[in-house]
Amino acid sequence: MVIDDDCCYKSSTKGETMSVRALVVDPSASASASASASAAVRLAEVPDPVPGPNQVLVDVSHASLNYGDLNDARSGRVPVGAVLGSDAAGVVVRAAADGTGPAVGTRVVALTAGAFAERVAIDVGALAEVPKGLDLAQAVALPVAGVAALRSLRAAGLGPGKRVLVTGASGGVGRFAVQLAARAGAHVIASVGSAARGDGLAETGADEVLIGLEGLQHPVDVVIDSVGGPQLVAAWNLLAPGGSVQSVGWTSGEPAVFPPYATVGPAKSLTSFVIDGDVDADLATLTELAAEGALGVEIGWQGPWHRFDEAAEALRARRISGKAVLEVASGEPHTPVPFPQSQSHDRPGPA
Ligand SMILES: NC(=O)c1ccc[n+]([C@@H]2O[C@H](COP(=O)([O-])OP(=O)(O)OC[C@H]3O[C@@H](n4cnc5c(N)ncnc54)[C@H](OP(=O)(O)O)[C@@H]3O)[C@@H](O)[C@H]2O)c1
Repeated sequence: MVIDDDCCYKSSTKGETMSVRALVVDPSASASASASASAAVRLAEVPDPVPGPNQVLVDVSHASLNYGDLNDARSGRVPVGAVLGSDAAGVVVRAAADGTGPAVGTRVVALTAGAFAERVAIDVGALAEVPKGLDLAQAVALPVAGVAALRSLRAAGLGPGKRVLVTGASGGVGRFAVQLAARAGAHVIASVGSAARGDGLAETGADEVLIGLEGLQHPVDVVIDSVGGPQLVAAWNLLAPGGSVQSVGWTSGEPAVFPPYATVGPAKSLTSFVIDGDVDADLATLTELAAEGALGVEIGWQGPWHRFDEAAEALRARRISGKAVLEVASGEPHTPVPFPQSQSHDRPGPA
């Protein structure tokens, strides 16, 4: 990652910030002598976000890095120069002009494009209030990985006694899927890359922890698959009639080659998965579970965002168990940002 020393300053008048620092996509950044091969991002100054009527302004203190962000930085899905990131947590500094959503001063967590910035404008349907007792560093681990786990399990149709296989169970989506499936009363089989990668999974609800799919003989009803490739094919072969594979991700990067007639037989399904629409209700469910201690948040890497390269490299190299959390803010108090004079919708902060 390139850090341009001249790029990043804040000028401020009466609490109004003119520019904010952000991690932006820059494929050439990895060509720099000071950047690692995995980066393709640069810390830069970007214009202060201008919220729409149904958006709040949030001063971001923490962001979390997802495997998908690494793909986005290189695939063109996030254009060159745009702010990367999906998971942000922080404090509301301006309420939504249309009167919806949280008040100034509320701690929130969000799933939003362009999350890796000091200040972000966020749709009220993309965030949830963070309950007391849950750190923002923990809350920020929940959006992409937690919502993917929750929704893919829901789509597959959970129920007590169902046999659920979670591949990539050591990762962000995987660790949440194991716990949520166990909470629903399923028999959970967690598949990991090595014995060490399985640490802690039995304690959080996995009935079986397997390396790959070694030794798995009995059919399963649900597969939450983050790995793709040959493991997806093997999981399909293990799927019981009526069962469902949710194809959430493809970290293996390998093709899945189905032998002839593998898809012929009693009905079962392979379903593609993507997070879309408002996530506020699911985020609220996840933050409440985490605050109660009913959903553990494992943070395998945490550090300041200028060490992005280190986090990205560790995630790619499968050295992170659970989530990577980037610290964005300096810990300064968040100054409420008034509406421009033509608007007067600011609401008081919580008592
Ligand atoms: N569709 C959606 O809306 C959605 C939402 C969230 C995530 N995703 C996707 O789901 C996948 C998992 O995301 P995540 O955030 O949970 O990632 P993660 O934290 O990096 O976990 C992925 C896991 O995959 C396993 N893996 C197996 N082969 C791998 C390989 N060749 N390279 C890297 N990892 C490998 C690793 O476990 P072992 O080391 O134990 O093998 C790793 O823990 C990604 O493809 C992501 O893009 C999609």
